Amino acid sequence: METVVQDRPHADGRYALLKVERLNPTIGAYVSGVDLTQPYGEDVAAELRQALADHMVIFLRDQPLDFAAHRRLAAVFGEAHVAPSTKPWRVPGFDEITKMHADHTSKYVAGEDWHSDMSCDPQPPMGSILYLHTIPPLGGDTVFSSMYAAWDALSDRMRAQLQGLTATHDGVKAFGGLVPEGMTLPCTSHPIARTHPVTGRKALYVNRGFTTRIDGVSERESEALLGFLFEHVQSPMFQCRFTWSPHAIAIWDNRCGQHMAIWDYFPQVRSGYRIQIKGETPV
Ligand code: SIN
Repeated sequence: METVVQDRPHADGRYALLKVERLNPTIGAYVSGVDLTQPYGEDVAAELRQALADHMVIFLRDQPLDFAAHRRLAAVFGEAHVAPSTKPWRVPGFDEITKMHADHTSKYVAGEDWHSDMSCDPQPPMGSILYLHTIPPLGGDTVFSSMYAAWDALSDRMRAQLQGLTATHDGVKAFGGLVPEGMTLPCTSHPIARTHPVTGRKALYVNRGFTTRIDGVSERESEALLGFLFEHVQSPMFQCRFTWSPHAIAIWDNRCGQHMAIWDYFPQVRSGYRIQIKGETPV
């Protein structure tokens, strides 16, 4: 039998300037061919946006960003989202830049459970750009899960049941006890199935980090359904896993994905910065 060997089986040939290589058939791509520390044009910016729309999360290595370069990269995707709940961790003088740091004194790290960033906000951030300059010798990966794949994998009957329902996302679930006492955290209802404004695809939009309740059904029904959905999104079939290197960047779309930071490196240091990008009201 003849064997067909593909030249670059993961490479996506639709890009003229960037090299975009998929991690697996479902989610995630490595992007190279650009130096984000230097100014770049709208042609590169358009391909970065396309790669994000195509793959839900993209990864770039060896990009030692300073704050200006991080801001420039964020502007490729939109205006910065300044969430009230990031206040304690903001970089002085840069409201939109959040310090992401863990070391031997840490009691928790950001994003330890499956979540979509700030889904408690009325207009949650469409995406996030995490840059890490320091990583532990081993561990500290981030796992991403495609909520397109999670939605598509549900049965027609389950999708019909969920369609039209909303769920409550409460900032207290994620940040209660971590932010200064008296700080009011957002709490908002969003559709359980949201339509991505760029791709037009449906994505499952409940997450263990923020979602507290399915609206308009009994407490027991809500608990049972959410329990099922929280398990469902964890299927390895929907996932990719990124192993960081110093000065790597992950750019993800919160509208169609969830992620989880793996804190398996205590007491080692993992450190960097994150900017979130303004999103729209989920529909
Ligand atoms: C986050 O949830 O935004 C942080 C992810 C990570 O640190 O890997």
